Amino acid sequence: MIKSSVYNCSVIELPINHRDRGNLTVAENGKNIPFDVHRVYYLYDVPAGESRGGHAHRELKQLIIAASGSFNVVLSDGKIKRTITLNRPFYGLLVVPGIWRELDDFSSGSICLVMASRKYDAKDYIRGYEEFLAWKGRD
Ligand code: TYD
Repeated sequence: MIKSSVYNCSVIELPINHRDRGNLTVAENGKNIPFDVHRVYYLYDVPAGESRGGHAHRELKQLIIAASGSFNVVLSDGKIKRTITLNRPFYGLLVVPGIWRELDDFSSGSICLVMASRKYDAKDYIRGYEEFLAWKGRD
């Protein structure tokens, strides 16, 4: 996905399956997630003013959800930048491989839930922006 663009990333609306004494949303492989989930992790207690991310993935697909509170996801494909605010738990931002991302402006108590298409692999990360640009520039 060297050639992927920020426009390949999209916000997916997850269904509210059950409204009774609060809401219940289900994300299920093969139904409403565009990949099979092999890992889930979440960020929480992010201090005010702190940012996360600051890397790209070579192969990993992710669905990023504001399970609580809100934050911004800044996406870049090396040419175009898009900022997406996530603030409701029934929206998931699909981030395709080959996209630089930074997460910031976390509200107090927010939880960033990430569903990922692969197990953790440090070799899948590109952690330098210059390295990312060089990788994107390759044929
Ligand atoms: P990282 O993905 O760099 O976090 P962020 O982009 O939110 O700043 O991960 C932070 C650290 O946690 C890094 O040392 C790798 C480790 N980590 C795992 O061991 N397993 C995982 O599944 C993830 C996502 C991170």
